[in-house]
Amino acid sequence: MPTLLIVDDEKNIRARLADFFRGSGYQVETAENGRAALDYLNKSGAVDLVLADFRMAEVNGLELLQRIKGEMPETSVILMTAYGTIENAVGAMKAGAYDYLAKPFSLEQIQHVVERALEIRSLRAENRTLRDTLEERPILDSGSEPMRRLLDTARQAARSEATILLTGESGTGKNVLARQIHRWSGRSSHPYVMVNCATLSEHLLESELFGHMRGAFTGAIKDKPGRLEAADKGTVFLDEIGDLTPALQTKFLRFVQEQAFERVGGAETIRVDIRIIAATNRELAAEVAEHRFREDLFYRLNVITLKVPPLRERAEDILPLAERMLRAETIRNHRPELKFSPEAAERMRKYTWPGNLRELRNAVERAVVLASGDTIEPDHLPDNLFREPLPDSQPVSAQVPKNLESMEREVIIRVLGESPTLEDAAQTLGINASTLWRKRKRYGIE
Ligand SMILES: Nc1ncnc2c1ncn2[C@@H]1O[C@H](COP(=O)(O)OP(=O)(O)OP(=O)(O)O)[C@@H](O)[C@H]1O
Ligand SMILES: [Mg+2]
Repeated sequence: MPTLLIVDDEKNIRARLADFFRGSGYQVETAENGRAALDYLNKSGAVDLVLADFRMAEVNGLELLQRIKGEMPETSVILMTAYGTIENAVGAMKAGAYDYLAKPFSLEQIQHVVERALEIRSLRAENRTLRDTLEERPILDSGSEPMRRLLDTARQAARSEATILLTGESGTGKNVLARQIHRWSGRSSHPYVMVNCATLSEHLLESELFGHMRGAFTGAIKDKPGRLEAADKGTVFLDEIGDLTPALQTKFLRFVQEQAFERVGGAETIRVDIRIIAATNRELAAEVAEHRFREDLFYRLNVITLKVPPLRERAEDILPLAERMLRAETIRNHRPELKFSPEAAERMRKYTWPGNLRELRNAVERAVVLASGDTIEPDHLPDNLFREPLPDSQPVSAQVPKNLESMEREVIIRVLGESPTLEDAAQTLGINASTLWRKRKRYGIE
């Protein structure tokens, strides 16, 4: 059951909205102003969505939005405003609002916006990454020469305006690096906007990116600026760019070339100044060869390509990374210091970490929960680390039933069947939920 927090200084509006959403099955809390809302959030933790009035005494809607985005960025915020001007709207979107509604609005309209926000939110596996990168400072040194070179190049490239394409296996840290490149760049005081191309339908993604005009499609009840408008002067990070549909590739190409676009259903050309970073864990060149990805767009994006190496190719980093993650994790859990036993450390060092830094981090988090003394023993590590490697004697081809894809498909089906939620399944597989979502779609699983 999704939880909503309704913040409005008008008692009637509060009560009316609360009744309505309770009736639709939401768990609803109310607050009479921004200060009360912050008190509630600090005391009781995050909610899924905050619906806040724009104009309130003390802490107004915009300030509330900024505080929420700073402290609990995974909470979606919708602002309600009596002053539905475009300036307000763009300002709110820039500050990270999911959407705004101009008063007066109908209950049906607000329900539509809330449902859509929650739908998009639940698909947004980037939330967790966003929280992670805000919560902790990324670890940006390495004992591996190729990784150090990559970080140096990234730092240099950050200061240019060039488009950057990040490639590399799932969990190698592409999202974390993209955000860091923004911080290193001259645009760091401007917005950083992330859009995952894999998790939204073509239609939703188009309007998320470019915005839309009222009446452009059913449910477009008003003009809405897109995320590219909100990213003006800043950086946009397009995650899983390999998943852009052909139609959106075409529209996006124009944006990359001209820094201009129209909202869906709009005639006015909007010009922006945006630095583009894109990421993919697909082989884009192969996608081009197979005509699934436009060659001209590929060359536009492929100005500076940074291939983040998998963890097994920088094995010297495994233990130092694990130790720093362990320290961060014990501090966060207010636990006394923990260390890895020599046997546990040896296991970690020898394992191949197919899920890369994400898998390593999950293993460390899990071990912190399971360890009761002051040492992490092999028992506290996930079973995966102990599965025997493929025996050398048998040819690999004899163990692979058909091909890699069908094997992957079978494993996904099995793990999905054993996991209560998509997130759990993703964790077991060591990939993120959006990747799993996409694979499930690609393999046509259920
Ligand atoms: N430099 C880093 N320092 C600390 N932790 C990191 C670092 N890079 C990655 N991680 C950890 O690994 C997780 C996965 O990183 P990230 O989401 O950036 O990978 P990705 O390459 O984008 O994966 P995918 O292709 O699946 O989207 C992060 O949430 C974080 O916990
Ligand atoms: Mg990613």
